[in-house]
Amino acid sequence: MKRFLPQVEAALERWVPPETADPATIHKAMRYSLFGGGKRIRPVLAMEAAAAVRDETPGIAEAACTLELIHTYSLIHDDLPDMDNDDYRRGRLTCHKVFGGAMAILAGDALCTLAFEILASLPHASDQVRARLVVEVAQAAGTKGGMIAGQVHDIEGEGQPPTAERLELIHRAKTGALLRCSVRMGAIYAGASPEELAALTAYGEHTGLAFQIVDDILDIEASSEELGKTAGKDAAQQKITFPAVYGLDRSKKMAEDERVAAWEALSIFGARGGPLRDIADLIVRRKT
Ligand code: IPE
Ligand code: IPE
Ligand code: MG
Ligand code: MG
Ligand code: MG
Repeated sequence: MKRFLPQVEAALERWVPPETADPATIHKAMRYSLFGGGKRIRPVLAMEAAAAVRDETPGIAEAACTLELIHTYSLIHDDLPDMDNDDYRRGRLTCHKVFGGAMAILAGDALCTLAFEILASLPHASDQVRARLVVEVAQAAGTKGGMIAGQVHDIEGEGQPPTAERLELIHRAKTGALLRCSVRMGAIYAGASPEELAALTAYGEHTGLAFQIVDDILDIEASSEELGKTAGKDAAQQKITFPAVYGLDRSKKMAEDERVAAWEALSIFGARGGPLRDIADLIVRRKT
């Protein structure tokens, strides 16, 4: 994880206006949520996917940081009182608790629009690659099987019977789509062959599903302190989760199966797939 983090942080620093920029409140709110911790798993996935394809991909951190902008926007909105209503995120009070609901909504909106501004003006990419990435990210965050679709199913699923079909629909979209997109972004940026793109897409789908299975397990097994967000919320809000459908033991086995499938998808990369294999392990074994 560590080798690309400084580049991701630097790209975010370059693009997000300083707290003093007018109107200051919104830039404070954006920075508060963005720089308040966070594993940065999505941008790191994008950069490692690019590195699996090609040695040098100048400017990739700029593209990758847009995933963190979209993800942070989704978290700010996910925590709002009309959504999951959480007071804590990334170890501190949620954006709306500090800046109020209106500013939190606007901070999310602003992070989203900034992401597309960056993608459309990537300095080292061709027009064709820029346009492709804009479409990829828009679809992954959107309403046709993307993050917003998943959030809609998640909210509408509260209190509904937790079926395997509903679960799959929610998880592939609300979390899986952006993780899949992260890996595809790196592949596309690096000029992957169709075969490489297909392999990395499969890897992204398996790790994406594993990621949300583990998020659901940690909601039960970890403490709020460890998570930096309120534990035990899924059961309290009658969410459709992996443990709710399959139980804890089977959910753990399913996360492990996804990890193995993710490894298998990388076989064409040989030793170059090492870092991505490590990230798949980390996703399943993480404690936060
Ligand atoms: C949490 O994502 C929300 C989900 C999509 C499951 P992360 O676990 O990546 O949260 P941060 O970015 O590290 O805070
Ligand atoms: C959030 O899923 C997914 C998105 C923000 C798109 P959760 O609601 O499970 O995430 P946490 O547990 O609050 O981080
Ligand atoms: Mg939620
Ligand atoms: Mg939530
Ligand atoms: Mg969760």
